[in-house]
Amino acid sequence: MYQVLLILHSWGRWFVLGVGLLALFRAYSGWTGRRPFTKGDNGISAAFSGFMWLQVLIGLGLYFGLSPWGLNGLKQYGMKDPTARFFGMEHIAVMIIAAILAQVGRIALKKAPSDTIKHKKAFIYFGIALLLVLLMIPWGIWNPARPLFRL
Ligand code: HEM
Repeated sequence: MYQVLLILHSWGRWFVLGVGLLALFRAYSGWTGRRPFTKGDNGISAAFSGFMWLQVLIGLGLYFGLSPWGLNGLKQYGMKDPTARFFGMEHIAVMIIAAILAQVGRIALKKAPSDTIKHKKAFIYFGIALLLVLLMIPWGIWNPARPLFRL
């Protein structure tokens, strides 16, 4: 079960990044080109937020039970260990903030008075959310290294 969730969580990152980049590109071109906010734009933004929450859900399963990292890592190695601190604190905290930002962005763009403002709000909220996700994926640059494609 641990391996299944880990593989899903690992591949889930590519869905979040792919859909997130697409949402950001559509928001930017819609904003600057004053394009109408279409069903397609709405669908992509819903998919971005949806994939984020899916990652949070799988992440919670790893964090509170199955993973040797997450809470288990914190108990075993403590906050002084960089890997335990990353998966036990930094990764979960910032990723949840990013998922909330994407969700708040969805709400904000629904309330926006015009299509251009919808695109602008989507660009700002999704842009910050995506930046946080990029920072907190364990690429091995400043945080622990994990495989890019786990099989
Ligand atoms: C958009 C949100 C998220 C993305 C893109 C993401 C991405 C990743 C990636 C790429 C890994 C490395 C997987 C591997 O070793 O192959 C990972 C590990 C992990 N993530 Fe996330 N994550 C997200 C949110 C969360 C959240 C919210 C939690 C906790 C509630 C979480 C808990 C964990 C844990 C505990 C690990 C270590 C698993 C292990 O090695 O046993 N993640 N995450």
